[in-house]
Amino acid sequence: MLQLRTISKSYPNGRHVLSNLSHVIDDGEYVAIMGDSGVGKSTLLNLIAGLDSPDAGEIIVDGVSMTALDDDAATLLRRKKFGFIFQAFHVLPHLTLLQNVALPLLLNGSDTRRATEMLAAVGLGGREQDFPRHLSGGELQRVAIARALVHRPRLLLADEPTGNLDPDTAHDVLHLLRSEIKANGASGILVTHSPAAAATADRVLLLTKEGLRPIEVVPA
Ligand SMILES: Nc1ncnc2c1ncn2[C@@H]1O[C@H](COP(=O)(O)OP(=O)(O)O)[C@@H](O)[C@H]1O
Ligand SMILES: [Mg+2]
Repeated sequence: MLQLRTISKSYPNGRHVLSNLSHVIDDGEYVAIMGDSGVGKSTLLNLIAGLDSPDAGEIIVDGVSMTALDDDAATLLRRKKFGFIFQAFHVLPHLTLLQNVALPLLLNGSDTRRATEMLAAVGLGGREQDFPRHLSGGELQRVAIARALVHRPRLLLADEPTGNLDPDTAHDVLHLLRSEIKANGASGILVTHSPAAAATADRVLLLTKEGLRPIEVVPA
């Protein structure tokens, strides 16, 4: 599903973030990535999504080399193959919940009927016409999960999705996220600081200056 082949990334200010990183994530695998703040977790997700390019190496998603695509081709591929969830929810305030969830389908020119099903799947059936301002953080993240999976992406990228939630709500959201990734047959990458959150994935990797290595975490 995802192959990272000796990728390196520095920023123009001269900071080396990733060097010679290699890894493979299989079809349907859900992997957590942990690591200290500033080690390069968000940078890695941006590279995988084709939002930024590595200085060296190749990234292959579902058989397609992201690193060989121009910006327009990367945007089209991203809309079809990826789903995203962020710490700060990124739910659009002036759209209803249904409109928010339908967005990836609209961008892909697809039928939007599945948006209603996805809202119901995350426990927000009947709330289609509500606006985000009436929702709690946990509910907003449920909307974000529905939106991230509505177009049946091959790979879901979640960057600290429970960073703004209390532990009980985070627990519920993470279990919902896992079950929806599996129900939709997607692969997933969950970036998190929390061992309890990481334990909801199939396996856990630690990102350090030396690269990615497997670690064991104890479920909460
Ligand atoms: N656009 C950028 N320009 C320059 N430096 C950046 C940029 N984005 C991130 N960095 C730096 O790269 C390092 C890794 O950042 P990031 O990937 O956000 O880490 P993490 O998500 O693991 O906390 C940090 O030192 C950060 O300050
Ligand atoms: Mg980050």
